[in-house]
Amino acid sequence: MTAEIIDGKAFAAGLRARVAEQVAALTADNEAGGAGGGLRPGLAVVLVGDNPASEVYVRNKARQTLEVGMRSFEHRLEASTSQGELLALVERLNRDPAVHGILVQLPLPEQIDAAAVINAIDPAKDVDGFHILNAGRLATGQDALVPCTPLGCLMLLQARFGDLSGQRAVVLGRSNIVGKPMAQLLLGANCTVTLAHSRTRDLPAICREGDILIAAVGRPRMVEAGWVKPGATVIDVGINRLEPETPGGKGRLVGDVDFDAVRQVAGAITPVPGGVGPMTIACLLANTLTAACRATGRAAPKLL
Ligand code: GUN
Repeated sequence: MTAEIIDGKAFAAGLRARVAEQVAALTADNEAGGAGGGLRPGLAVVLVGDNPASEVYVRNKARQTLEVGMRSFEHRLEASTSQGELLALVERLNRDPAVHGILVQLPLPEQIDAAAVINAIDPAKDVDGFHILNAGRLATGQDALVPCTPLGCLMLLQARFGDLSGQRAVVLGRSNIVGKPMAQLLLGANCTVTLAHSRTRDLPAICREGDILIAAVGRPRMVEAGWVKPGATVIDVGINRLEPETPGGKGRLVGDVDFDAVRQVAGAITPVPGGVGPMTIACLLANTLTAACRATGRAAPKLL
């Protein structure tokens, strides 16, 4: 069997187009002085320090925010910024009515407590879905802003299967950003979920139980063909840059899945790059649109 390749890049382009359409309608309403009062959603991105990978993400976020017609506010702070200075900026953004979404790029320098900063963001503007209130809402099945990468994975799965009820899903990786919210989302979609991690006994056998396997461990090409149930759908969240000296490496980007081997076994698989990655920013824009609509008493549009 050779797996179907799930084209996350194309799906993300479609999602961005639907977001842009909604933004255009909201803004036109503004310019016409419509009865509902107009609205241009705004996203503030905060980058502390000069981590090169974070630089690339932040630049892409800002570009795509503008491309869908939203306002983009970029705040770049020195690596030596204190927690107090960052909290003061977050407070300012919380109060700014032009800002509907706030994203503080992680990782933060070590003098800053990331949890304290995330939990200082107004939960209604927490478009990353990392605030403890949004995490709790997701875990208890209440309306929440949901972390972008797992939301993107869920959208790809729902586009493929429709209803996910009864599927066996294995999530490999237990981070707050991907693994835990991914497991919650799949549970909410009526999957039977196993959350596996580095201490899980007999990881290959556990992974092989999944009709759906989500790999989010950050270890290049860790998931081998023998870890995958024949015909399973494999979602690869990993983005790992190989060292130039790695055989076949040359600094190339690979996922957490050995793509060439696993595609011989799986029913469908996301590539790296071009799979989950583009969905993350598209979902960030969708969350910003949702936050802006809710902040102004509008119903959040359905984007699927
Ligand atoms: N760093 C890596 N991924 C993310 C993300 O989704 N959000 C934020 N804020 N930082 C990140």
